[in-house]
Amino acid sequence: MNIKQLTGGVFYVGVNDRTTVHFEGLWDLPKGVSYNSYIVAGEKTALIDTVAIGSIGEYLANVLSVTDSVDYLIVNHMEPDHSGALPEIAARFPGLRIVADKIAIGMIKGFYGITDESRFLEVKDGDTLDLGGGKLLSFHLTPMVHWPETMMTYLASEQMLFSGDAFGTFGALNGAVTDDRCDVDYYEAEMRRYYAAIVGKYSPFVQKALKKLAGLPLGYICSTHGPVWHREIARIVDIYDRMSRQETEEGVVIVYGSMYGNTGKLVDSLAVAMNQEGVDKVRVFNAGETGLSFILSEVWRYKGLIVASPTYSMDLFPPVEAFMKAIEIREMKNHVGAALGSFAWAPGIAAKKIEERMAALGMPLVGRYSMKMAPDASSDTALKQIAVEMAAAVKA
Ligand code: FEO
Repeated sequence: MNIKQLTGGVFYVGVNDRTTVHFEGLWDLPKGVSYNSYIVAGEKTALIDTVAIGSIGEYLANVLSVTDSVDYLIVNHMEPDHSGALPEIAARFPGLRIVADKIAIGMIKGFYGITDESRFLEVKDGDTLDLGGGKLLSFHLTPMVHWPETMMTYLASEQMLFSGDAFGTFGALNGAVTDDRCDVDYYEAEMRRYYAAIVGKYSPFVQKALKKLAGLPLGYICSTHGPVWHREIARIVDIYDRMSRQETEEGVVIVYGSMYGNTGKLVDSLAVAMNQEGVDKVRVFNAGETGLSFILSEVWRYKGLIVASPTYSMDLFPPVEAFMKAIEIREMKNHVGAALGSFAWAPGIAAKKIEERMAALGMPLVGRYSMKMAPDASSDTALKQIAVEMAAAVKA
């Protein structure tokens, strides 16, 4: 049990999950994940979001350790990692009213079959709910951060924003709930990975939400995953702003596939050449072996992107194809690219396909090279040229 009183009348009642292997059935969780839920207690008591259904026993015990009476359940986000325990909570507290926007109410009916209209209190943008005791909640619709029903809830007395997935991180909580007692660098890396994998596609909506909420004083940001941001709010909001503007930094990510190691040798030589050109931040990922979220996180951050693929059935090698699809879905911007292909008997196909895909993303290309079978002296010349052009581009 990891209950923490954040301020007078506000409690963290979330749970850790170190068992689930893949978040959304897709994304690696080597450090686990937390599902955060909060209680705001005035004269009435509100629970803000719930947790995944697999943690219902621990979660209910957390809630009951703080209160045996819940008047409102605020639903900021309906993805089942936060709404999974909703039906159990609604059943456990039969007088509870579910506070949600119109789209969320439709989802509650669809996901969980709760159709009794008297259970719902529909809220619109800017509405408030007075819990008494100085606890006034206001609701701010922030659609598509991360689903269409998403909203954020603000508790003015504590300058506390319950932000849903926004500002969330992978990584279970390791003892501390607030950032003043935890390793912020550790969670920053997991926030970047969560953002690139889960929220990044919706960056224009994140920007809208940031602008909309810019006037709210922030003492605490209580996300649905990871630590409560308090001491580091300025740093975290700045990173989030830059990530959602798709601002990129000096550095180069090389993403490759390799069946028998020849394309792997090629990119190793290119990494050396990049380093010789003065680029210190070079990240090389084998797309067939590294979880996609780790790759996307670094690609989101750094300006240079070099993709290398063998030709496979007259197409890209499947793990590279999956990577290209992932960056297309996320409409990645503000990169410069280079395309490397390898082949044994069908010249140029892989490099050309990568180049076309990068061009469709609006990514300027600084070089292209096709290797026949294995690296040779001509490869070194081509790689050197690409490294020079790429280094100049990422430093510009
Ligand atoms: Fe953490 Fe979009 O759910």
